[in-house]
Amino acid sequence: MAEVVSVTLRPAELADIPALRALGEAVVPPTYGPIDAAYAQRMLDEWWTPEVFAASLARNAHVLAELDGQVVAMANFGRLQDSYRDFPHVTGDREVMWKLYVHPEHQGVGIGRRLLGEIEALVEGDELWLEVVDGNEQAFGFYRAHGFAVVERVEGDPWPDDVWMRKVLR
Ligand SMILES: CC(C)(COP(=O)(O)OP(=O)(O)OC[C@H]1O[C@@H](n2cnc3c(N)ncnc32)[C@H](O)[C@@H]1OP(=O)(O)O)[C@@H](O)C(=O)NCCC(=O)NCCS
Repeated sequence: MAEVVSVTLRPAELADIPALRALGEAVVPPTYGPIDAAYAQRMLDEWWTPEVFAASLARNAHVLAELDGQVVAMANFGRLQDSYRDFPHVTGDREVMWKLYVHPEHQGVGIGRRLLGEIEALVEGDELWLEVVDGNEQAFGFYRAHGFAVVERVEGDPWPDDVWMRKVLR
């Protein structure tokens, strides 16, 4: 078992957007920079902006983890059909964990596991889906260890591919 640190979990609100952005600036470059530095910057520019968070807070569930009053991790969850992205390869809907990010200084102490448990409790159907960027081996290892299996790969050319994983919950 990983060392377990005691964090406070709560829903995110609009006032948390600066803290969410700061979390992204801390965790996105070390996660994706080694895979593709330009892609890491694009992730921040496209998916970690105040505008995107404001829109996402209105349609997705967001859970924050706080330690000593500081936001150290977040996860969010929603339905594919509510997304503003297009998924031409998908027929029907999916319940998706869109983000799970733990600050690099707080990884490996059980926070990701706790947030994943919170998100799993929100799933109404039988399956939780997520996307992992090809090359993010730390995330693949974590998700495999928590019951997810690879289902399909979506070509990202010129960017890294997205790999969809699914966990059957019941
Ligand atoms: C991947 C991530 C969310 C995992 O969260 P975390 O808080 O570091 O992981 P935890 O400490 O909760 O890990 C809990 C368990 O998973 C296991 N685990 C964690 N990473 C693992 C890995 N790469 N391979 C195998 N097992 C792993 C731990 O050993 C631990 O198991 P144990 O309790 O039986 O020892 C986190 O490291 C992170 O934010 N990474 C960078 C951002 C990212 O890639 N997010 C995912 C985007 S798809």
